[in-house]
Amino acid sequence: MSYQTIPQHFIDDLIARTDIVELIEARVPLKSAGHNLKGLCPFHQEKSSSFTVSQTKQFYYCFGCHASGNAIGFLMAYDRFSFIEAVEYLAKQQGVSLPKEYSSNTTYEKSNVDHYDLLKEVMQFYCQQLKHHPQKERVVQYLKDRGLTGEICKQFAIGYSPSEWDSLLKKFNPKRSELLATGMLIEKNNSHYDRFRDRIMFPIRDKRGRVLGFGGRILDKGEPKYLNSPETALFHKGSELYGLYEAMQAKRQFDYMVVVEGYMDVVALAQYGITTTVATMGTALTPKQLTRLFRLTPEVILCFDGDDAGRDAAWRALETSLPLLSDEYSLKFIFLPNRYDPDSFVRELGKDAFLQLIKKATPFSEVFIKHLLAQVDTSYVSGQARLVSLASPLLAQLPQGVLREMLIEQLMPYTRLNRARLLEAIFPGQVNTRKIARAPAKTGGLSPVDRALCLLLQRTEVVGLVNKIEELQVLPYANTGLLIELVHLLQAQPSLSIGALLAHWPEAVQQELAALAAKPLLLTEDDAIVREFTDIVNKLHQEVTQVQLGHLLAKIRRDDLSELNPADRSKIHELLRKDEEV
Ligand code: GTP
Ligand code: MN
Repeated sequence: MSYQTIPQHFIDDLIARTDIVELIEARVPLKSAGHNLKGLCPFHQEKSSSFTVSQTKQFYYCFGCHASGNAIGFLMAYDRFSFIEAVEYLAKQQGVSLPKEYSSNTTYEKSNVDHYDLLKEVMQFYCQQLKHHPQKERVVQYLKDRGLTGEICKQFAIGYSPSEWDSLLKKFNPKRSELLATGMLIEKNNSHYDRFRDRIMFPIRDKRGRVLGFGGRILDKGEPKYLNSPETALFHKGSELYGLYEAMQAKRQFDYMVVVEGYMDVVALAQYGITTTVATMGTALTPKQLTRLFRLTPEVILCFDGDDAGRDAAWRALETSLPLLSDEYSLKFIFLPNRYDPDSFVRELGKDAFLQLIKKATPFSEVFIKHLLAQVDTSYVSGQARLVSLASPLLAQLPQGVLREMLIEQLMPYTRLNRARLLEAIFPGQVNTRKIARAPAKTGGLSPVDRALCLLLQRTEVVGLVNKIEELQVLPYANTGLLIELVHLLQAQPSLSIGALLAHWPEAVQQELAALAAKPLLLTEDDAIVREFTDIVNKLHQEVTQVQLGHLLAKIRRDDLSELNPADRSKIHELLRKDEEV
């Protein structure tokens, strides 16, 4: 059931009971300023406080970025809740319950709430074991050897799962079934034992800090090196991102997010002050994870080892990303030098060196083109054909836009196909080849512009059909300028006779125009003339679109997309739309 069905009076009542000041103060430091409270805006970077919260109006407003709203809006913007999540959160805080039928998903069911609470207690228990377990010296020594500080362990709530088979069972005794449901126990021959034993524990939290599951690393050598919680009602490996909660504690706005492979990598980078990092759960990046990342940031940077395995993994991620790469988003890649992972890299070479890697990350287009070219020899026709067949299904998955056009432009020279044929290979049967092939209109030996002039001179009333004639300026035909002048003249003075018209030009031009005016049309019916004229003018406008697009595409051919200015971007979008319409 959708949220619209929550009765408005319920929402009104909830907002009335909530104190927005309390709600925001718990998240953003505020100071009194007259009737209002002020603080640094959490929604944009600023040095002076322009973020204002009104106690009386129960409303927030930023004079800098104009963010504004009520308690529900704040939760949606700050905690990135959905509407229903915000309502449910406030309801829970106020101790009122939302009628069950309005609840959007199952995560708010009572048992799930219990499971979150239980996993949180388990996390705390594991953390305490670092201080109290008889093995603690060995464990702490391991963490030290890996360079982890106490502070960073606390921040990521890193803990230790005791080596006993039943430590959770003992500690949370009546909760056997909940432990089982949350994946903390393994069932064998009707008995149960702890899944995680003698491991360094990394709690995996959602963006709101609720514990969903754990990853556990063995201390010494052994198999498996890492063990993860199984899929449960709360934990879905393919949708969560390790480190997201911690990253969001440090920062609210992300210019970019780096995705690394290991938990240790996230922790190490954070320890060195690079807090915009997340990891998958040891699996390939899923579309769901990438979608979530693109909600938080316009630029995602995937970090891989510089070896073959890393390159393979990068290509798999690239393939996953194709349908999601609309022009607002950018995907880049970091390939680490051999034998480094982000953890060892940052510890050995430091923060600035890693920031350099981020700064110099390889754009999507480069990885895409290089990977394809590496598989073919384009000095042979067979290689050119193979390139087309490799690239086509991939390009077809990309949303229409600048990125796709740029890749097409960059591949074109290697395929030895023109744009029309390459497009036909990418979208077989979908492209109007008549349109894109654009053979110059056959107009009895005249250029389309001359033919238009000819028709116009003989039936001046068709000028009423013409719009935006100035745009034709960019076309290479000899008499384009003349056609534009003639149209303007006729539009201004529709009743001019041909003789009077001609007087506007020098002798030589007059003769040319007069010749066109006297040319036999081969068309007798008026509506045939109108049709042909309209047709030619439309074609000329299509050519304009092509020329403009060509200029812009040439401009972006060698450039990094991120350097394309916004005006160019929107122009390309507009032109592509136009091109598709006709
Ligand atoms: P350290 O050896 O502790 O530095 O770990 P790492 O983060 O460098 O690990 P590695 O590059 O070997 O693996 C990256 C990620 O893959 C880990 O964080 C895990 O999520 C996952 N992973 C690694 N080994 C295993 C394993 O044996 N089983 C499972 N299920 N996942 C693993
Ligand atoms: Mn490592």
